Amino acid sequence: MYQAARPSNETLHETQRPFNSTFSVSAPSEAHDVSVHQFIAPLTWKTVADQRYLCPKRSKDEIMARCGQQQPISFEQALANMEATVERKIGEGVYGEVFLCTKPNGMRSVVKLIPIEGSRLINGEKQKTYEEILSEIIISSELSNLRQQNVQFCTDGFVELRCVSCVIGKYPQRLVELWEDYNNQHGSENDSPKDFSDDQLYIAFETAFGGSDLDGFRFYNAQHAFSIFAQIVLALAVAEKRYDFEHRDLHTGNILIEGTKEPERVYHLLGEEIVIKTHGLRATIIDYTLSRIVYNGLCLYNDLSTDEELFTAEGDYQFEIYRNMKAVLQNRWDLHSPRTNVHWLHYLLDKLKSVRNFREKTSKTHKAGMRMMKQLSDVLLQFNSVHEIVQHYFALEVEESDKENQM
Ligand SMILES: Nc1ncnc2c1ncn2[C@@H]1O[C@H](COP(=O)(O)OP(=O)(O)O)[C@@H](O)[C@H]1O
Ligand SMILES: [Mg+2]
Repeated sequence: MYQAARPSNETLHETQRPFNSTFSVSAPSEAHDVSVHQFIAPLTWKTVADQRYLCPKRSKDEIMARCGQQQPISFEQALANMEATVERKIGEGVYGEVFLCTKPNGMRSVVKLIPIEGSRLINGEKQKTYEEILSEIIISSELSNLRQQNVQFCTDGFVELRCVSCVIGKYPQRLVELWEDYNNQHGSENDSPKDFSDDQLYIAFETAFGGSDLDGFRFYNAQHAFSIFAQIVLALAVAEKRYDFEHRDLHTGNILIEGTKEPERVYHLLGEEIVIKTHGLRATIIDYTLSRIVYNGLCLYNDLSTDEELFTAEGDYQFEIYRNMKAVLQNRWDLHSPRTNVHWLHYLLDKLKSVRNFREKTSKTHKAGMRMMKQLSDVLLQFNSVHEIVQHYFALEVEESDKENQM
C-alpha cells in the first residue's frame, strides 16, 4: 500500500530519553533527496491531508517500467534475461517460493517468485495486487541502492537487487520438480505450484545469494554472533535515518549470513563513516513484505490494522514483537516509530544470547562476547531508535579514535 506521508508531528519516535545516555539526539537531516530513482510511469497528483503528492497513475505501468517491460514475459524469457539456471529451491514464505540459480560466470543468484493479481488463494492467502507488490519493489530497490557510494547514507547490508521481472504462465515443470524435491527433503508448508493457470502473473525478484539464514547458523563464538548483531544495527540505522525505514519482520529467517574475507565493513550514517570488524562473517537483511519507508514524500507500508492472525500467535518471542509493534504504533501502520526496529533488535539479541551450540565456548573472547550481549539486552529497550543505539555505542567510538588520531 502507498499513501502520502503524514506531517512529522504525527510520528511517534523519540518520545522518551534513553536510560543512562550521554548523548543528545540530533535533528533529522534535511538532506534526504539523494535518491536517483523516482517514479517512472505517468504520474498523477494525489491530495492527502491537504498535501499534494505525485504518485504513479497505475501501479501496473510503474511496475512494467521498473521491469523494463511493455508486457509480462514468459518464464523462459525471464530466466534467459537473467542468464540464470535454476539449481534448487532454498526457501519459502507465505507469499513466495525462493530458488537458487547459477549464471554462466559461476555467480550465484536467488529468484523469489510471488504470484500476483489472481483470484486463487495461495497458501490460504489472497494474492497481492500490482499496487501491493509495487511497495515491495520500490523498498527492495531503494535499500539495495544504499550500497552505491554516497557520503551521507551508505550500506551494503540490504540484499542486492539485480533484476525485477513481471512473468506470466504456468510454473515451469523444472521448478515444480525442484519444489517437490524440497518438499520431500524438508517438507513445505506451501501449496504445490503445479496447478497455476496459463494466465497467472508473478513478480520475480532476482537478488544476490546472501548465505544461509541465521536460524540454526552455527557460530564459532559469541564475538562472531555479536559481529552479526552489530552489522544489522548499523545497516538498520542507515535505512532508518535515510528513509524513516522500519523493517517490521526481522526474525531470524530474514537475516542471512555468509563467510567473508573482508576484515571490515563500512557504513555512512548522516555523513559519518563508521567502520566495524566482520570477524569473517557478513550479515544481509532480506524480506520487506511488512516494511515501511518514505519514498518521494510517500509512505509505503503494509497496513496490518485489520490482520488478526499475526497478533495472536504464542510460543516464541518473535510473536510478541508483532504485538509490541502494534502497541507502539497504536495500530497506525503508516506512522513512523523507529522503536519497532529496536524491538526487533531486542528479539535478535535474545536469540543470539540463547545460542548454545557455539563451537568454542571456553575462551575469554567468547565469555566477553556473551557478557556484552547480555548487558546490551538489559538496556536496549530503553532506546527509541536504532540511530540512538549507534550514537551511544558506535559513533562515540569513532569520535574517540578520531581524537586519538589527531593527538
Ligand atoms: N538472497 C537470498 N540468499 C539466500 N537465501 C535467501 C535469499 N532470499 C531468500 N532466501 C531464503 O528464502 C527464505 C524466504 O525468503 P523471503 O524473502 O524471506 O520470503 P518471504 O517473504 O516469503 O518470507 C529466506 O528465509 C531464506 O532462507
Ligand atoms: Mg521471510
